Amino acid sequence: MSLIQEIELLQAEASGEILSARSLADLDLVRGKFLGKKGQLTAILQSLKVLPPEEKRTVGQKANEFRAELEGQLLKIREEIEDRELQSKLSSHSIDALQPRQLETGRLHPISRVQYEVEDIFTSMGFSIMDGPEVETDENNFGALNFSDDHPARDMQDTVWTEDGNLLRTHTSSIQVRAMRILKPPFRIIAPGRCFRYEETDASHDNTFYQAEGMLVDRDVSVAHLIHVMKTFLSAFFEKEVRVRLRPGYFPFVEPGFELDINCLTCAGKGCPVCKHSGWLELLPCGLVHPNVLKKSGIDTKIFSGFAFGMGLSRLVMMRYGIEDIRHFMSGNLRFLNQF
Ligand code: PHE
Repeated sequence: MSLIQEIELLQAEASGEILSARSLADLDLVRGKFLGKKGQLTAILQSLKVLPPEEKRTVGQKANEFRAELEGQLLKIREEIEDRELQSKLSSHSIDALQPRQLETGRLHPISRVQYEVEDIFTSMGFSIMDGPEVETDENNFGALNFSDDHPARDMQDTVWTEDGNLLRTHTSSIQVRAMRILKPPFRIIAPGRCFRYEETDASHDNTFYQAEGMLVDRDVSVAHLIHVMKTFLSAFFEKEVRVRLRPGYFPFVEPGFELDINCLTCAGKGCPVCKHSGWLELLPCGLVHPNVLKKSGIDTKIFSGFAFGMGLSRLVMMRYGIEDIRHFMSGNLRFLNQF
């Protein structure tokens, strides 16, 4: 039998096999049998090398025609089979368009929840909400807040610097500075936001955390106003009467400066492990705005004075939900987040 006849026989065989293929797997078998590495057509193509030139040409042409035809048929039948499979899938999977769908809904991060709550309480007391960038200038984070260049208090706030001499804000007090420049007194603002410090982490310190800054500038502002606003806020937030006490605290931008403690809500001040048996919990630093700070931002201190506070928002969230480790917040751990 000549090679040409052999090819014709293969052609007839291949056509028959392609037509009887029922699945994509059947088609792959056919492809392998003729066109695979050890396929019958492949073998013929390989044997061409040793043929005399004339025969090589005619047999080669025939073999290539066969290959093209086979590829074409395989493709056509493949499409038909795929189409059939899709149709049968569609007819066996009916869709009930009226069936209610169970969509997995997202939820707010506990910090966002508490942040919105804090904003609501303060806006009800006439405060506006302000925002500021996380990358700040040295001036807005320190200079304008009465930290001189070599002031040791800078060391209290280990800072992440950018290569161009800016920094990741170490506190939301930088937003006070922006508020004083933008708003005309009297004004009152609350400014929640993310802060960063270059420090080692433990259960109560993270390099990324949230604060909510507050500032009120008006005529004749006193410590009594500060205490009243803090007590009103805390009682609304914790939904019970909260007692506070002030201890002296140092921050270059307030004078006098305080650490405000609240009576322990777990034991009502009697003493328990949560408050280390003191009956008090340290909650937020605050004070009357230092006149240097007001002056630097162009506020007339003969007319205006103010108070400011820096609430640890992360801390507040931990107290609200009894969270024992601040590092859960930024962990992205779904087992933690799904609880809220
Ligand atoms: N910004 C200060 C800090 O993060 C806290 C503070 C704010 C103190 C406002 C006083 C007044 O440490």
